[in-house]
Amino acid sequence: MRVLGIETTCDETAAAIVGLSPAGKPEILSNAVLSQIAAHAAYGGVVPEIAARAHVEALDRIVMRAFAEADLEPHQIDAVAAAAGPGLVGGVMVGLTTAKAIALVTGKPFIAVNHLEAHALTARLTDNLAFPYLLLLVSGGHTQLLVVRGVGDYLKLGGTIDDAVGEAFDKIAKMLGLAYPGGPSVEREAEAGDPERFDFPRPMSGRPKPDFSLSGLKTAVRLVAERIAPLSDRDVADLCASFQAAVVDLLVDRTRAGLRACREAGVMPGALVVAGGVSANQPIRRGLTRLATEAGLPMIAPPLSLCGDNGAMIAWAGLERLKLGMVDNMGALARPRWPLDELRPKP
Ligand code: KG4
Ligand code: ZN
Repeated sequence: MRVLGIETTCDETAAAIVGLSPAGKPEILSNAVLSQIAAHAAYGGVVPEIAARAHVEALDRIVMRAFAEADLEPHQIDAVAAAAGPGLVGGVMVGLTTAKAIALVTGKPFIAVNHLEAHALTARLTDNLAFPYLLLLVSGGHTQLLVVRGVGDYLKLGGTIDDAVGEAFDKIAKMLGLAYPGGPSVEREAEAGDPERFDFPRPMSGRPKPDFSLSGLKTAVRLVAERIAPLSDRDVADLCASFQAAVVDLLVDRTRAGLRACREAGVMPGALVVAGGVSANQPIRRGLTRLATEAGLPMIAPPLSLCGDNGAMIAWAGLERLKLGMVDNMGALARPRWPLDELRPKP
């Protein structure tokens, strides 16, 4: 069984082929990703129109590269999957239309994948993880705690009431004049900084409901940066380190509340999983690993190559759906907003 997956919801143009070995083990046969970072860097963030145009220009080539790397012809796959949202609608339409065209020409089933579900199921591609598990999904647009009960079966325990974690990293980076995307820049600066120099707030800490809030922390960083300006390199490093330390603490505290909420809902998760672009952050991974150990659970984070947006996660989510017969028709639309808890398991 082999599935082609196409990802165009944000600023990566990606296509990949994922299959199952004869013994049933997931295999990434190819994983072609073209980052548009350079095209957006001058604007300090993703410009939707530029992203959509860049997807149009690059996608055919990236799909052909995915077939070439896997040494397969289009008729040798069993289904075509594309991320149908949530994301920037112009880019999503490019990926979705391309996937439908390939499905029509090859006569293979088409699967419209939710981008968040693809992040959520990556731990099953890499670690063969069984349901249920607790997922902390942290990306540029999303910050949520969910119980992953099955394919299409998500229980949302909590989410952010304002900014997403990745968004906060990106805004802090922009404020401090660091390169886009902000997450990796802030993490790099923080390595040389003092995480205790500034005592930033850890919003929502201690509350039973596992919700998140980032905007107060972001404002606190801005006020200190304005107070001590002009900023030396040392100041920037200390601001990044102190901000990141606050993020680690608040994510650990909120995830601890999520574990408690799970137990109260009668769910015994088999693992703590972190996914989404922010899951590349090493101090965040270390904090969550300490929490998981305390709770007697394994902590699973994707390999760095699968933290950011990629086609392999879309192909894998497509394959999971194909195995259950959950395929879509050509009427499937691009969905800029598409919360995970609106999905439904196979009846
Ligand atoms: O999942 P993703 O690639 O795209 C979305 O679906 O949003 O996540 C991108 C986000 C960006 O906000 C980026 O700054 C953040 O993930 N990010 C990081 C790191 N690497 C990427 N945040 C913190 N630390 C990192 N090392
Ligand atoms: Zn993503």
